[in-house]
Amino acid sequence: MNLLIISGSPFPGSSAAFLAEEIKAQIEQPENHVEIIDLCQWDIPLLGSPATEDLEEFKTIAREADAIIIGTPNYHTSFSGILKNALDHLSFDQFEGKPVALYCTSGGMRNTDPLAQLRIVMRGLHALAVPTQVCASSADYQKNEKGEYAHLSDEMKQRIGKMIDSLMDLATMTKSKHHI
Ligand SMILES: Cc1cc2nc3c(=O)[nH]c(=O)nc-3n(C[C@H](O)[C@H](O)[C@H](O)COP(=O)(O)O)c2cc1C
Repeated sequence: MNLLIISGSPFPGSSAAFLAEEIKAQIEQPENHVEIIDLCQWDIPLLGSPATEDLEEFKTIAREADAIIIGTPNYHTSFSGILKNALDHLSFDQFEGKPVALYCTSGGMRNTDPLAQLRIVMRGLHALAVPTQVCASSADYQKNEKGEYAHLSDEMKQRIGKMIDSLMDLATMTKSKHHI
């Protein structure tokens, strides 16, 4: 299985990217290839500006993925602008009938609102978003002495496991359908 994780924080060393690494670690099996695109490291232009090499590569990787996991920080009870801009560059080409899982990270309380809104975008792209999602908050992480995210709560790890299980079940069904 070919999986893509899109981490939608505009800041390096983000909790969204930390969660992406944990998700990748849980999916990683010899039969799975997992790639993380941490959007803050990619030159994705504002929609309407000239295309970049990174943009073309982003579109190709997203198109070739069997399933996509999308993560966002909670920004004013919604998802991040950098993520919306990146998704606006994509289309049915990348998402039609594709299994998707969603996660978010908040500074205060755990909050599902950013993902409720992201689900509407997924519907607009004809993606198949699995119901199980991950909503973390700062209480779910600890940082190390260098100030890097280093520890995730067991509860959140288990929740990630449930989300991955439902995503992989759906991805197995859709992949076999495409190969008939
Ligand atoms: C512009 C902006 C708006 C934010 N709005 C909220 C909010 O409404 N609720 C909340 O709990 N945290 C909010 N936060 C805090 C972030 O959600 C929190 O710091 C998150 O962990 C950042 O994720 P990251 O480390 O992946 O960048 C906001 C942060 C920023 C920069």
